[in-house]
Amino acid sequence: MSSASELYQSIILDHNRSPRNFREIKDASRSAEGYNPLCGDQLRVWLKVEDDKIADVSFQGSGCAISKASASLMTTVVKGKTPAEAARIFESFHRMVTGQGGPADDLPAKLAVFAGVREFPARVKCASLAWHALRNALEQAGTDPVSTE
Ligand code: FES
Repeated sequence: MSSASELYQSIILDHNRSPRNFREIKDASRSAEGYNPLCGDQLRVWLKVEDDKIADVSFQGSGCAISKASASLMTTVVKGKTPAEAARIFESFHRMVTGQGGPADDLPAKLAVFAGVREFPARVKCASLAWHALRNALEQAGTDPVSTE
């Protein structure tokens, strides 16, 4: 295993063991659920948007190490961003994990730990589970779970 993939694996394991922002935001302004139909795992993302900034973001739910680590890293990356910036990061992340081109220059470097999942179609849904919930929350869509399909 290359040192880069060892580093990536250790980052994923760290975020799985100690997920950041793993809590509910009681006074959230937006919230949405993501659902992975392949495994039945689901999680919820909460957003607190103030003055066009994501003042707080969190998640809770069940999932594998990749989904939990991805959700955890997502919260650290979008906090402090505008909803429009967060939506652009979603698009860039989604392109990277689905293999539709490399990560855009504006994709925060720490998200590169998920670049390898494009080789494993089932894992793409794990890595993008929280991100679909984030997008749904950003769009203030309904309260139904959003699938990774
Ligand atoms: Fe369920 Fe990864 S196996 S989210």
